[in-house]
Amino acid sequence: MEKLSLPKNKIKVLLLENIHKNAVELFKRQGYANVESLRDAPDADELKQRLPDVHILGIRSRTKLTREVLAAGEKLLTVGCFCIGTNQVDLGAAKRLGVPVFNAPYSNTRSVAELVLAEIIMLFRGIPQRSWGAHEGAWDKTVKGAREIRGKIIGIVGYGHIGSQLSVIAEAMGMRVRFLDVVEKLAIGNAAPCRSLDELLAMADVVTLHVPELPATKNMIDAAKLKKMKKGAFFINASRGTVVDIPALAEAVKSGHIAGAAVDVFPKEPAGPKEKFKSPLQGLRNVILTPHIGGSTEEAQANIGGEVAEKLVKYSDNGSTLGAVNFVEVALPPQSGATRFMHIHRDEPGVMARISELFSRRGINIAGQYLRTDGEIGYVVTDVIGRIQVGMGIRKELAAIPATVRTRFLYEN
Ligand code: NAI
Repeated sequence: MEKLSLPKNKIKVLLLENIHKNAVELFKRQGYANVESLRDAPDADELKQRLPDVHILGIRSRTKLTREVLAAGEKLLTVGCFCIGTNQVDLGAAKRLGVPVFNAPYSNTRSVAELVLAEIIMLFRGIPQRSWGAHEGAWDKTVKGAREIRGKIIGIVGYGHIGSQLSVIAEAMGMRVRFLDVVEKLAIGNAAPCRSLDELLAMADVVTLHVPELPATKNMIDAAKLKKMKKGAFFINASRGTVVDIPALAEAVKSGHIAGAAVDVFPKEPAGPKEKFKSPLQGLRNVILTPHIGGSTEEAQANIGGEVAEKLVKYSDNGSTLGAVNFVEVALPPQSGATRFMHIHRDEPGVMARISELFSRRGINIAGQYLRTDGEIGYVVTDVIGRIQVGMGIRKELAAIPATVRTRFLYEN
């Protein structure tokens, strides 16, 4: 258990896997001078040696944080995954140890939207097959099958961060936007919602998917749905590989019903560069295949550096867990003139009452109290007016509450 209100320069930040310099700069700007940044992803043994004096840990996808490794982080306050995925971390174990984990789910939104827009232009002009031909010595200058995107209907399935961003830039190019989402969404610009997937498929000149991977989205586009698309329409998937029946798409392209496609994500993707990529779409000249690079740009990497570092600093400075992937989310106001006590505990009855009683017994006025529980863990933040002397035994008593996992307090900076 960690009891801490350290000066920022005593807070040790360890960043692994060559995390973007934006992260280091942000920590330094915020007063965190003790930042170490390494190129590699240390193995479990090295991690266990390094972690005991680390407060804030930043990783990317190669560092595996198992329960055992996390347990070595006696002082570990929080973990930042400087990437989108978080399955390299045992999130449940981190939660039970009182360690919120953050990531950057939306730093590459724009990168995906731009790639999709570029692919739409390429497909409408028949560029994939013409480029392929030119490489082989052909000189096909015919205008047949080469069209502008202006005035065409784009059907966006999934109007979340990427879908709505794409909506804006597609409309700026003169496209007419129709979209479908399972939740009510504000239509941006002149975009208009469709009542059903079938309605969208029947009217769109190009259909693009931006839905998450869920049981409900598995093979949401199969042979029957492809048949419902307009003859000669284009199809794009840069969301998740499982949402499309790829053999059915290959058949629809071969039959000419679908005039071309761009696919970035696949149900089975190679684990690394040494594994060969195989797909029924290979060899189809009017299909653009890309190796899951929709979100992979230098700008996205830079955004990730800033976005995750900011969430880690916020948690360290203020206790806010907004955006944590494994933890109850508590958005906290700034500490105006208060001392802030944070208490993470196993979610058992009576903890909140014990905490409140401990302050009232000392005649300390509580200025604000914030609680979130999820059945497994509870997080209580208590602001009390003024610079309370923690020597009053409050810390000790908070830590002695039987369900306690971690306590921490912050003086106003
Ligand atoms: P998001 O969560 O902001 O948006 C997803 C939207 O899909 C939500 O509005 C949700 O309500 C909607 N939705 C869910 N089920 C649906 C259904 N059955 N029918 C219609 N709409 C449905 O997610 P974001 O950031 O826009 O990402 C979308 C997808 O793109 C995700 O699958 C993500 O993994 C993927 N992605 C791919 C990248 C790449 O490199 N190719 C990079 C980044 C994200």
